[in-house]
Amino acid sequence: MKPSLIPARERLIVALDVPDVEAARAMIARLGDSVEFYKIGYQLGYAGGLPLIRELASSGKKVFADFKLHDIGNTVAKGVESVAKLGATFLTVHAYPQTMKAAVEARGASLQILAVTVLTSYDNDDLHAAGFRMSVTDLVEARAMQAQTLGVDGLVCSAEEVAKLRAVTGAQMRLVTPGIRPAGSATGDQKRIMTPAKAIAAGADYLVVGRPVMEASDPKHAAEQIVAEIEASTS
Ligand code: C5P
Repeated sequence: MKPSLIPARERLIVALDVPDVEAARAMIARLGDSVEFYKIGYQLGYAGGLPLIRELASSGKKVFADFKLHDIGNTVAKGVESVAKLGATFLTVHAYPQTMKAAVEARGASLQILAVTVLTSYDNDDLHAAGFRMSVTDLVEARAMQAQTLGVDGLVCSAEEVAKLRAVTGAQMRLVTPGIRPAGSATGDQKRIMTPAKAIAAGADYLVVGRPVMEASDPKHAAEQIVAEIEASTS
């Protein structure tokens, strides 16, 4: 589906960054039909949250499984098959060629693979310390091109990287951006932030939002406002 055809409500992905399933269920009930797409990561996934993926999927919601897989190809493939069976829509892997290839081959018909190029907490010094002799910018671009060649469905990137990655990968690549802050909300530990409207205008397909919704006094209202902002910047 072309990004412009994805309904605004589906372009908001709320990060269920909570410690247990009970807290997740309470938040899902509060958000009701304001949210269509949820992200489940290490914290909730490893705290009994995996069955919640199936549960959300069977109730018509979409789930982004943010598990950032990276292992030998065979192990990645088996993990991807298991996540696909849970009914997730997106699954992240680290953007190493073997890992991306194995994940794409094992994903089946309904799961889409997103690659994380370089973690946004890494700068050039961190890359050098990890043994890479490339800058963050060059490695992000090289890995985006590899992802494109290997048939990866999307990339997780900061809103600032969207325009450049779109030019490298073309219109079909799903660009999914965290670090989103509606005007006036607290930045927390995010350093490179953008408002929903600006990120959409820059070409992001999906926005991942955690604290601005999860910690709002009225989470449903906060989610609805973000959806309205996405809608306004696409119409
Ligand atoms: O609370 P906040 O809106 O900052 O949450 C953003 C979500 O996106 C978190 O679940 C975080 O782990 C995730 N994320 C991120 N930056 C990345 C990749 C993922 O903030 N580069």
